[in-house]
Amino acid sequence: MSLRHYLQFSDLNREEYEYLFARSRWIKERFKSYQQYWPLVDRTLVMIFEKASTRTRLSFEAGMQQLGGAAIYLNTRDSQLGRGEPVEDAAQVISRMSDIVMIRTFEQSIVERFSTYSRVPVINGLTNEYHPCQILADIFTYHEHRGDLRGKTVAWIGDANNVCNTWLQAARILDFKVNVSTPPGYELDTALVGGNGNHFEVFADPMDAARGADLVTTDVWTSMGFEAENDERLKDFADWQVDDDMMAVANTGALFMHCLPAHRGEEVTATVIDGPQSVVWEEAENRLHVQKALMEFLLLGQVD
Ligand code: CP
Ligand code: NVA
Repeated sequence: MSLRHYLQFSDLNREEYEYLFARSRWIKERFKSYQQYWPLVDRTLVMIFEKASTRTRLSFEAGMQQLGGAAIYLNTRDSQLGRGEPVEDAAQVISRMSDIVMIRTFEQSIVERFSTYSRVPVINGLTNEYHPCQILADIFTYHEHRGDLRGKTVAWIGDANNVCNTWLQAARILDFKVNVSTPPGYELDTALVGGNGNHFEVFADPMDAARGADLVTTDVWTSMGFEAENDERLKDFADWQVDDDMMAVANTGALFMHCLPAHRGEEVTATVIDGPQSVVWEEAENRLHVQKALMEFLLLGQVD
């Protein structure tokens, strides 16, 4: 089997996503009915965190254990990674002692460099540019509630960050549209999203982006690594809050998603995130199921 990495959403094609979503469903059903499934016995996942995490660490570590394997957590503070060991050297060593690696870090170029020197599959657990595992879970969650996203419209309200860029990559591969609205000065970097722009539309007014959408989604105004800009961002993003008025102009039955952690009263009101259209808890849980399917796919290929 050839070595595959998952560094950005565009690393897999439509057919592979269809397989992964079906496989995630199967793995989730088995897990929910307490049936043991151990295809990765004796396999070791190394998780490298250069930024904080709750969901990503938990879902990868629990997921690997539930598949019969083991997971090891490394962070920058307690390893030589934080003391300047070159990424290329770390990749050579870590990938000789493990079967699969997940990395959460700053620049996308770090996961790219690591993967070049890795003997085993590398998964992006979030970079400044992308968060592919999150969108894998989000689309799976949409399928569970509303079916295929093909031809539908997702409204992205707020910062044109890693999660937003990944939604746009997904739209191009899976044939849906994203309406994007960001405050002035925080616009999309179109070089990161690929394609010719047919799969997204930019709106100055967030209400226009939300109008007619099937899914409204947002994220924190200040992502990890940008904390120094927090005060300025609080002011600049004030009109980009997802509230009941915004949900009211979306399609009837529109869902609300947020990758979490959330700040109620900033990017979303409590009435929306804790309201009937919100699926944020299923969205978080589904990280577990889709990443189990992803690890199995990268290590064993398509198994059915
Ligand atoms: N959504 C997400 O990746 O959460 P964590 O930062 O807690 O991992
Ligand atoms: N955009 C956020 C996502 C956190 C899961 C960040 O990068 O901090």
